[in-house]
Amino acid sequence: MKKLWGGRFEGKSESWIDEFGASISFDQALAAQDIQGSLAHVKMLGHTGIIHADEAETIKNGLLAVQEKLANEELTFSIENEDIHLNIETFLHQEIGTVAGKLHTGRSRNDQVATDMHLYLKTIVQQTIEKIHTFRHVLVEKAEKHVETIMPGYTHLQHAQPISFAHHLMAYYGMLTRDQERFSESLKRIDISPLGCAALAGTTFPIDREYSAKELGFSSVYENSLDGVSDRDFILEFLSNSSIMMMHLTRFCEELILWCSHEFQFIELTDTFSTGSSIMPQKKNPDMAELIRGKSGRVFGNLFGLLTVLKGLPLAYNKDLQEDKEGMIDTAHTILTSLDIMAGMIDTMKINEEIMEKSTEKDFSNATELADYLAAKGMPFRQAHEVVGKLVLECTKRSTYLQDVPLEEYQSITPLIEKDIYTALASRTAVERRHSLGGTGFEQVTAAINKATAQLAGE
Ligand code: ARG
Repeated sequence: MKKLWGGRFEGKSESWIDEFGASISFDQALAAQDIQGSLAHVKMLGHTGIIHADEAETIKNGLLAVQEKLANEELTFSIENEDIHLNIETFLHQEIGTVAGKLHTGRSRNDQVATDMHLYLKTIVQQTIEKIHTFRHVLVEKAEKHVETIMPGYTHLQHAQPISFAHHLMAYYGMLTRDQERFSESLKRIDISPLGCAALAGTTFPIDREYSAKELGFSSVYENSLDGVSDRDFILEFLSNSSIMMMHLTRFCEELILWCSHEFQFIELTDTFSTGSSIMPQKKNPDMAELIRGKSGRVFGNLFGLLTVLKGLPLAYNKDLQEDKEGMIDTAHTILTSLDIMAGMIDTMKINEEIMEKSTEKDFSNATELADYLAAKGMPFRQAHEVVGKLVLECTKRSTYLQDVPLEEYQSITPLIEKDIYTALASRTAVERRHSLGGTGFEQVTAAINKATAQLAGE
């Protein structure tokens, strides 16, 4: 088959080489964007008089016919046509004949492919923002129901201080809010048109780049044609923002996996998000949470893959850049589905409130309460810390807990301790009293939830 660029070639192409060079197996994901870009370009060519109005009309109709065939899944892509651009141009040729050859006036595949990817990512990032918003909404709804659900707060995965379960959920709300902001801010660097940068240097034809940019809904155009065709920062930024977000999701998933283990039993995931074992009949595994944790690996890998491709690349277009697509598309699919799964899992999980709260009763997560109690009564905090530390050691030797130490014993340590100590040591009190801004006290958590509700409503 003759290549669309075959004029200066004498030798025949070899299929295994064609295969190595082709991107159609993956860039067919950009077919709709490619047609959209061509429709804008041909409209501009007609508008500026670079081609006749009737030719522009014919090409437009041809592209619309190809668009319809794409929607009806009637197109068969071929490796001989290398990539999505040459495949679509070939289909156009089949529709309208040689006039199809005028479409490529004043443009190159270099600005064409960049345009396709800007269009693609603009949609994907908008979808990502919507899905993060939905997930944040789910978090807030769940948090509303669990302001007074007490759980152990951890540091070093050791019981640290009791907290409100809602407070824990709202920590993820904070992370996801920043993720959403990052994606939103990145939009302005995606929303730029490279169309008309041509191969690298612009074109001699009197094109109107602003016209085609407007047609495509872009807010601005690249100001430098070399930059326009070789910039992949917007993809890096997408991969980087996706990596940070996935990292957040993995932290949450790790906790979900722990929480539904036999040792914790804090939550139960619904059957939808769990799977069984082929040998152990009792198993209900949190596979979806594990997979999100696992799939973060490919998202991080895609970021590093593209950084490595771009490192040291001279300007402007190099075929290396064709390696920008698979990671981008794979990441898009991974993050969108991961967000749906997260929202579903959190929305439907069952919380074992009693077990959660009970696990704060047979532990030393109230040790800070005792130290604070003494400090509030005038004992220097460092000294209080020492006193309580010794008592904890003594309790561990006697297999007992601070709330079980008799008042006489407390008073023999220091008369500062009175019988209200037992209220102070209760985990509910410990949570309730943490009124400091952003703390886990019920009032603070309620305020945070209200603020988040208003924030979500305003988005
Ligand atoms: N398939 C190519 C890519 O994805 C399109 C651009 C080809 N440009 C070129 N000069 N060979 O990068």
